[in-house]
Amino acid sequence: MVRVVERCAAERRLALSMDRLIQAAREVRERAHAPYSGFKVGAAIEDENGRVFTGCNVENASYGLSVCAETAAVLKAISEGAAKLKRIAVVADSNTLTPPCGACRQILWEFCGDLELTMANLSDKEETVLMNQIFPRPFDASFL
Ligand code: THU
Repeated sequence: MVRVVERCAAERRLALSMDRLIQAAREVRERAHAPYSGFKVGAAIEDENGRVFTGCNVENASYGLSVCAETAAVLKAISEGAAKLKRIAVVADSNTLTPPCGACRQILWEFCGDLELTMANLSDKEETVLMNQIFPRPFDASFL
């Protein structure tokens, strides 16, 4: 019985933490610089110590220089000395939930491995997958 109660408490903490992460991604999404696509994205990554790092997409008139929300969040986390990155929430205003683009999947794999990815939209639709489900057979340091 005690164990069941403890497990419920742990699950509640996890759920709260995921809500917190989605909320952080929603908030940073508001700061996206997306005048060319009009498509704003927010991402929030949590490390194993519970620290949260956020990022939004930042576009450029020279389109190819644009940076995605997920990459912005990873770069901030790494440069701020994050511990092991455990999960990421990605929020966009799309009916079909927005997954990370191919380049971001590669970057996420490099620094986060098989992390938990939650995609959400502004209507509270959400789905959680593991990276290996959307990025099978990755190229990484194990080949070098
Ligand atoms: N974008 C992201 O920031 N993350 C994604 O997961 C998909 C796409 C951005 C890139 C660009 O600024 C805009 O969305 C449209 O592609």
